[in-house]
Amino acid sequence: MAKTKTVFICNNCGYEASKWFGKCNACGTWNSCVEETVVKSPASASSNTLVGGTQAQPLKLSEINIDAEKRIDLHCTELNRVLGGGLVPGSIVLLGGEPGIGKSTLILQSALELNDRKVLYVSGEESGSQIKMRAQRIRPNGSDCYILSETSLERIFEQANILKPEILIIDSIQTIATDMVESSPGSISQVRECAAALLKYAKQSGTPVILVGHITKDGSIAGPKILEHIVDTVLQFEGDQHHLYRILRAIKNRFGNTSELGIFEMTQTGLREVSNPSELLLNEQLDGMCGVSIAAAVEGIRPLLIEVQALTGSAVYGTPQRSSTGYDSRRMNMLLAVLEKKAGFKIGQKDVFLNIAGGLRISDTATDLAVITAILSSSLDIPIPSNICLAGEIGLSGEIRPVSRIERRISEAEKLGFRQIIVPAQNLKGVGLHKAKIEIKAASRVEEAFKHIFGK
Ligand code: TYD
Ligand code: MG
Repeated sequence: MAKTKTVFICNNCGYEASKWFGKCNACGTWNSCVEETVVKSPASASSNTLVGGTQAQPLKLSEINIDAEKRIDLHCTELNRVLGGGLVPGSIVLLGGEPGIGKSTLILQSALELNDRKVLYVSGEESGSQIKMRAQRIRPNGSDCYILSETSLERIFEQANILKPEILIIDSIQTIATDMVESSPGSISQVRECAAALLKYAKQSGTPVILVGHITKDGSIAGPKILEHIVDTVLQFEGDQHHLYRILRAIKNRFGNTSELGIFEMTQTGLREVSNPSELLLNEQLDGMCGVSIAAAVEGIRPLLIEVQALTGSAVYGTPQRSSTGYDSRRMNMLLAVLEKKAGFKIGQKDVFLNIAGGLRISDTATDLAVITAILSSSLDIPIPSNICLAGEIGLSGEIRPVSRIERRISEAEKLGFRQIIVPAQNLKGVGLHKAKIEIKAASRVEEAFKHIFGK
């Protein structure tokens, strides 16, 4: 006989209690308690019944043969790279992102690319004809994949067991539900139970499963953190909805590097891979513009030349305004303090606005030098020559600290036709960079860099 009971679950960590709580005992989050009804039927004691399958036996490591290394090529360079070289058989990937960012588009597009494989795309959000409309927009000439519009986990497994797809895609985990749990789709116990069953399916059948997941207001993947723990790879698709560029990052990857990054552009006909992002991010007509500088940054392990824009003005109100888009504002305040000390910039009287072009968010500290020179350029009203780019982290006393992967930054700048790059002096010690065509200028203090650029 099925037993029904009410439990209180923490939204954040999945902690369960029999009474309501204000603060979670396990993770300490406030107001994360939600009430859910669960049905414990004898069958639900183990999700084994869903997937079927045999009992695992202990094996010696040497007896285990790896065909797991045969990764599935997704025919999308950016996606393959973020996954660490393709999809690993039997792995489970969670793709998170804000609504409307393009998760369904990305995943459907990849499914359509994989013409040589049997892909089952399960959608709990759209009907078959809606998906077809989207597919025709992305790939007008006849690529194919299997589509299933279904929200019941049991029926999805039924179909999967008949079709035996090589890749299973679930869009999205929050819309599907299993009969084993009585709460509504998207609730914590549903998400947890469905993900656990899908994990079992992936491991037992060797079929990779891609889950699309929604994101909560604060930017974490909806459902308990447990979801992130059970999957092998967590990818995040981000970018400003009103900008064209989308960035795909790996937050967790059991089979690859988390510092990889994929860049896409949203077009009328789906997502386009951006294989050389620097070219797109740079404006051609920079010459003579004040307050603009180019940073030779590295996001993940990819060099990126980005445009930093700054605007300074006299503060009209008592408290000057500070605003920064795409760059840490505390770091900007620190750089302003360095500027005041080293270049006589009166920060108490100026409004400062900073923007990273293209809607990017940059966390590489080597962008510091470009940020500080852009602010100074706007304040002095002297443009920075557009064929100069900069890389360097700035310390509190105005010293320029060495940065990582300097060779990649220099070679990217050279590839894009920059005449000169300013780098931290310490980076040049013992590095063989003499063959570079680009002129490399070393600076160890901000004053040196300023003198070089502005001549004072
Ligand atoms: P979608 O993949 O539905 O987002 P998600 O699944 O993350 O919620 O993406 C929807 C957005 O993408 C929508 O605002 C329209 C836009 N879009 C294009 O600009 N071009 C296209 O070819 C497609 C299919 C969508
Ligand atoms: Mg969607």
